[in-house]
Amino acid sequence: MNNFVYRNPTELIFGRGQLSVLEAKAKQLGSTVLLVYGGGSIKRSGLYDKVVSQLQAAECRVIELSGVEPNPRLNTVKKGIELCRQEGVEWILAVGGGSVIDAAKAVAVGVPYEGDVWDFYTRKAVAESALPLGTVLTLAATGSEMNRGSVITNWETQEKFGGTCTFPTFSILDPENTFTVPRDQTIYGICDIMSHVFEQYFSHTTEIPLQTRFAESIMKTVIENAERVLENPEDYDARANILYCGTMALNGTLPVGVDTDWATHSIEHAVSAVYDIPHGGGLAIIFPQWMRYVYRENVARFVRFAVEVWNVDPAGKTDDEVALAGIEATAAFFARIGAPTRLADYKIGDDQLEVMAQKATPFGPIGRFKPLGSEDVAEILRMSL
Ligand code: NZQ
Ligand code: ZN
Repeated sequence: MNNFVYRNPTELIFGRGQLSVLEAKAKQLGSTVLLVYGGGSIKRSGLYDKVVSQLQAAECRVIELSGVEPNPRLNTVKKGIELCRQEGVEWILAVGGGSVIDAAKAVAVGVPYEGDVWDFYTRKAVAESALPLGTVLTLAATGSEMNRGSVITNWETQEKFGGTCTFPTFSILDPENTFTVPRDQTIYGICDIMSHVFEQYFSHTTEIPLQTRFAESIMKTVIENAERVLENPEDYDARANILYCGTMALNGTLPVGVDTDWATHSIEHAVSAVYDIPHGGGLAIIFPQWMRYVYRENVARFVRFAVEVWNVDPAGKTDDEVALAGIEATAAFFARIGAPTRLADYKIGDDQLEVMAQKATPFGPIGRFKPLGSEDVAEILRMSL
């Protein structure tokens, strides 16, 4: 196991009716708030009214940044930063999915920073201060509610990069707020959660039994609840379990002491930067291909994955066969829940393949399980067509 430091300051407030704590939180954080949300799902579900009435009860002045796009854009972030500066905003409340939270994080670190907020994404600067940020999560997927990552798209340069920004001060997760997530977004969320675990599970670090079993527990819990939630989108317990898995998959629990990978996320971000496809959909397509491309680097790890997560029976099979059966089971699971399986499902052909491969590797080779250069990425994309 590697050395590590583990710190996560986000207060996670989980369960039915937990929005009621918002008034008290608002009183602590300041009288002018920037309310950040997306394209209107929170208005349709009635959550917007509930949030605003809590903020009003706390006598907060509410400034709004609405219309945050899925795959949030730099221009929207800059608009939010301007609003905060003009209106003397003291804290930010993000109500939505990962895109809304990521945009809010970018605004939070952008306000006190004199340079261009994009510097935090191009690794030119490290965020040192931020406005306080609270979140009300409405979609189980990214883990952004309890980590300091933020992924923003610069549409002008067709770049989609992750930056290290700021942890939310608190996040309110009521599974009922995810009842209205459409079927496709629920599927993408499930694929994203599974992918986050894969990125941290496929590692060469040895003697990490606890991290390994944590990861396997999350994967098994997602698999057990995926079809339940798709059959009945208002199954509270299934939604709750998926939601909690989403947080635990990317809140810093799994990577402690472990060399993690993250190549597939870089590849997906490059695809999204060019074609603006849903993140989880892209991952569902690319991950099984990444697995096929790299599994020989550590067959034993893939054998364990097949046996523990997918119940592959190793009797009478070679290690290679067991490993491949686990990869097939992964692809079959994504297909069974209705995720896309080919880039062609998004009408993506091979014309921008090299461009995407370059965009996936802007700072050199990616991934640690098998470091991938742009030619490797191009091959994985070709396998995904
Ligand atoms: O915009 P609204 O109207 O709110 O609708 C959204 C959006 O259209 C809708 N939605 C969300 N909650 C809903 C709902 N519709 C009905 N009922 C609800 N309760 O779902 C659509 C997708 O939302 P989005 O926030 O884009 O989804 P997600 O949470 O999957 O976030 C994806 C973004 O996060 C980034 C991705 O790259 C992508 O940009 N990621 C962020 C990470 C992080 N910060 O740690 C890590 C991830 O790996 C990921 O890269
Ligand atoms: Zn992801």
